[in-house]
Amino acid sequence: GKSGYEHYMLKEIHEQPTALRQTLSGRVNEQAGTVELEDLDGLAGREPAGVQLVACGTSYHAALYGARMLREQGIPATATIASEYALERPPVADQLVVGVTQSGETADTLSALRTAAQRGAETVAVTNVVGSTAARECDHALYIRAGPEIGVAATKTFSSQLVTLRLLTEHLTNGTTDGIHDRLATLRALPGALQEVLDETQAPAVAEEYVGADGYFFIGRGYNYPVSLEGALKFKEITYEHAEGFPAGELKHGTLALVTNETPVIATVTGNDEAARKTVGNVKEVEARDAPVIAVTDGQTDVARYADHVLEIPDSHPTTAPILANTQLQLFAYHMANELGRAIDKPRNLAKSVTVE
Ligand code: F6R
Repeated sequence: GKSGYEHYMLKEIHEQPTALRQTLSGRVNEQAGTVELEDLDGLAGREPAGVQLVACGTSYHAALYGARMLREQGIPATATIASEYALERPPVADQLVVGVTQSGETADTLSALRTAAQRGAETVAVTNVVGSTAARECDHALYIRAGPEIGVAATKTFSSQLVTLRLLTEHLTNGTTDGIHDRLATLRALPGALQEVLDETQAPAVAEEYVGADGYFFIGRGYNYPVSLEGALKFKEITYEHAEGFPAGELKHGTLALVTNETPVIATVTGNDEAARKTVGNVKEVEARDAPVIAVTDGQTDVARYADHVLEIPDSHPTTAPILANTQLQLFAYHMANELGRAIDKPRNLAKSVTVE
C-alpha cells in the first residue's frame, strides 16, 4: 500500500534514504578505499578502453551523469540514447557496454545491448529487477537495489542508479584515483543528507506560487546538467505543463528568446566551482529579463541574491549534491502536479515499462 501517502510517487520519493542504504550495503570498504561489486566478478581494476552507456528517458539522464563521472576519473565514456545507439551501431572493440534500465525490459535498451553483444562487446545491465531480460541477457548484472517502484515516474530508482554508477566507476578504477576517501565518506553521509532535504523542503509552497505559468526552464551545468534534464522530464510527465531542461550555457543560443516574466527558471547551482559560478551568470541574464528564478542550491554561491525562491540542500560532494538537488526537483514537480489534480501515479499515455521500440 501507500503507507499513508497520497500517491506512490510521494512514498517512493520518501523511500530514497532507505533505497540508497540498500544500494550501498556491503559494497563499500571505506578503510581500504575500495568498492566491491559481487555482481561484477572479473571486472575489478581491469579498466576497459572505454565505456558506452545506453539508456532511455530518466535512465539516460543517469547515464549522462555516469559517463561524466567515468571521464573525470580517466575512463573515456559516452552516454547514448538507446534507440539511436541501436541504429548507429558504433564500434565496440574493447568497450564495456552498460545498459542502464530500471525495469530491465525496455525494448530500445535491450535492442542496443543486443547489437553491441552481437559485435563482441562485453555487456553489463544496471537494473532494479532480478531476473529481468537485461539481467539475463548481459554478461553481468549490477543491481541498483532500490526496491519495487510502483509510480510510473521514476524517482528512487533514478537516485539508486546514480549511486550505482558512482560505485561502478570506483570499482573499475579500484584504489587508483585521488580523492576516493572523500567520495566514499560522502556516499555514507548521503542517505542522512537526503532525509534532511525531505524533512525541510520548501517545495510545496514554492510550487503553489507558480501554477499556470507559460513554461518552465530547468538549467544547470556539469553534473547539474543531467539533473536539469531530469527535473524537466519529471515535471512534464506528471504536470502536463511544458518544460525544457538544458545546459545553462545554451540559454543564450536560442531559448533566451522565450524567457519572460511568465516563464519561471529553475536553476540548480551547487558548490562554488566554475560550473556553479557560470550558472550564476546565466541566472543574472534571466533575472534581467524579469523571469522568476527558483534556485536549488547549497548556498555556496550568491545565487540566492538573484532568486525569488530558494530550495535549499545541505553541503555535499560535487557528485552527490546533484542527487540532493534532484530530490527538490522531484518534490517541486510532485506538488505542482498535485495542485493541478493530475493522475500522478499513472500519467496519461505513459507505461511503467516500454516494451515496444
Ligand atoms: C520517466 C521514466 C522513463 C524511464 C524510461 C526507461 O519517469 O520512468 O523515462 O526512465 O522509460 O525505463 P527503464 O529504466 O525501465 O529502461
